[in-house]
Amino acid sequence: MRILLTGAGGQIGRDLINELLRRSKEPPSIVATDLRTPDAADEQEHVRWSRLDVTNEAATRAIFADFKPDIVFHLAAILSARGEKDPVTAYAVNQTGTWNVLEASYAARVKRLVFTSSIAVYGPGLPDPTPDAVPLQPATIYGVTKVSGELLCDYYTRRGWVDCVGVRFPGLISASLPGGGSSDYALFMYVDGVRYGAYEAFCRADTRIPLMYMPDGVRALAEISEAPRHKLRRCIYNVAAFSPRADEIAASVARAVPGVRITYVPEPVRQGILDSWPKALDDTMAREDWGWKARYDLDGMTDDLVPRVRELLARGVDLSHSNR
Ligand code: SER
Repeated sequence: MRILLTGAGGQIGRDLINELLRRSKEPPSIVATDLRTPDAADEQEHVRWSRLDVTNEAATRAIFADFKPDIVFHLAAILSARGEKDPVTAYAVNQTGTWNVLEASYAARVKRLVFTSSIAVYGPGLPDPTPDAVPLQPATIYGVTKVSGELLCDYYTRRGWVDCVGVRFPGLISASLPGGGSSDYALFMYVDGVRYGAYEAFCRADTRIPLMYMPDGVRALAEISEAPRHKLRRCIYNVAAFSPRADEIAASVARAVPGVRITYVPEPVRQGILDSWPKALDDTMAREDWGWKARYDLDGMTDDLVPRVRELLARGVDLSHSNR
């Protein structure tokens, strides 16, 4: 099996690579691409890192034509908060980049393209929990380009050009720091809670959005990449895990990190984005069609994640590029 990832150096990539290596009976051949040059920590057996800017059509086509992947995981994206600061780059990466990846996949006869969509496709005023098939009126350029990416995936699939599948992710939480997401407050409660004993969140205490622990997130991507097409009624599916208020996350962190101080100073742009998103997702269709089910709840995540963050910090892993 030949697997190519775009944006592999971001929040999801390394965890997804490990999940793919863990699941496969025969070791796959993985090409991990990203804009930034990989560092020594990225090197591992069966994985070759290669620099790729998905906005560069020729370079994208060339790497696909050369490697001829069976499966592509398209992770490259500018997230919601950073996208509002720089909509031009967000459009180039998320919109043009997705188009380039679809076209390169078609030309290289990729067997399946897995698209990472987001709760950001939704706008305000939707049912709680929010099902898959509702009007999509996103409030951010990130959301607009994810809606467009979903529609393009659906179109390419119906035309028989590229078999696309994907999930709408909740905010993902792990020890790997993203950058520019509006859901990052949840993750920083853990990372900064452990390393500094304190975190000033950029949202209100009563903020509630769908969240998911990364091991469930990468398993969702792997499972949908394997799901038989005839079982799929949709191209892109909601996947859900838990939906705590920000102060409920803080209480869970405090259980594992006694004395941690978490305070709330809402920042208007990111709070506005968070308020535009659903409070919870309805993932009934994913459960019915491909057997999806999250394993971690909030406290289960806390119990697993806090020791991991402690261990990374003890090993001197650089978690410094905080975007608090
Ligand atoms: N985590 C993303 C963000 O905050 C949502 O997909 O932008």
